[in-house]
Amino acid sequence: MNASIPSSDTLPRRPIRDLPDELISQIAAGEVVERPASVVRELVDNALDAGARQINVRLLAGGVRLISVEDDGGGIPRDELPVALRRHATSKITDLHDLETVATMGFRGEALAAICSVSEASILSRPAGQDSAYLLDARSGELRPAARNQGTTVEVKELFFSTPARRKFLKSDATELAHCIESVRRHALARPDVGFAIWHEGKLVEQWRAAGSMSDEALARRLGDVLGDAFVQNSVTVEHWSGAVHVTGRAGIPDAARSRPDHQFCYVNGRFVRDKVLTHASRSAYEDVLHGHKQPVYALYVEIDPARVDVNVHPTKIEARFRDSREVHQAVRHAIENALAAPRAA
Ligand SMILES: Nc1ncnc2c1ncn2[C@@H]1O[C@H](COP(=O)(O)OP(=O)(O)O)[C@@H](O)[C@H]1O
Ligand SMILES: [Mg+2]
Repeated sequence: MNASIPSSDTLPRRPIRDLPDELISQIAAGEVVERPASVVRELVDNALDAGARQINVRLLAGGVRLISVEDDGGGIPRDELPVALRRHATSKITDLHDLETVATMGFRGEALAAICSVSEASILSRPAGQDSAYLLDARSGELRPAARNQGTTVEVKELFFSTPARRKFLKSDATELAHCIESVRRHALARPDVGFAIWHEGKLVEQWRAAGSMSDEALARRLGDVLGDAFVQNSVTVEHWSGAVHVTGRAGIPDAARSRPDHQFCYVNGRFVRDKVLTHASRSAYEDVLHGHKQPVYALYVEIDPARVDVNVHPTKIEARFRDSREVHQAVRHAIENALAAPRAA
């Protein structure tokens, strides 16, 4: 018998033990934090959940050396700062009903714990009505007063310094930076009412100003700022109700199709998702007007009763499961078909 195959004769039995807390977080981090862009996604999610109007992202070395996300949201009271970093600690849900109807970006209470377990992180925060801000160093647990206006800044340094195997999988700084920008872009397209800025190595690389409110004009402007004016000029407004499913956004005319599927954005209740049902529905709407391997462009926002969609499918929450996927497929398909068939305004 092959000696390298473990068998009960060769393998000494080891007792079953609870894993140490930090190792549990590091294992969870393997799912949540793949690269700097995943940290950016989680931190921007948190800033949006906190009601931020302006979010500033600062990066060094593509985010590997430093990711800092600063917001002007509600902040975290001093006494809750250590709790925020604990695994399965969240302010967003309290019971199963909340989970099934969740409307916030976060709810699993694991991102900060996971990030802190694979980096050197700190969190600086000041809620309204608190005399000063407080800075918590995740590694040492030290908590001390610091200066800051209302809001929160999370700093993540030396990502994967404690897990060199992970660090080796990172690509060049330029590639990691591109992923970080893409991550903010996905948020920015869903929230024209929030301003975003990204700095890399001290230089401003992207800036998208906040619109006063959420409106069609605000969305069109944000789409233009983020994806380029051509995206807006070569797309039509999508606005469609199908039963309880509301689809809005913009769909590119066939001529605007690209060789790569890099301008295809789908959101479900404000959350960016990559979903087969939505991709397939969009693809089939373009079936008769697009030929070959051309990729349509679109930014679609699906609004549906949160109880009819499960976002707790994957730790990164990038997947969704619809209770009735046919209903959603049809809604999206018809939404695009109708938009493309409507005569275009000059
Ligand atoms: N930028 C922020 N502003 C205000 N509160 C925050 C911020 N980031 C994190 N928090 C608080 O810390 C908690 C834990 O965050 P996280 O680990 O991302 O879990 P989740 O977002 O799933 O609740 C949040 O529920 C929230 O109360
Ligand atoms: Mg979160």
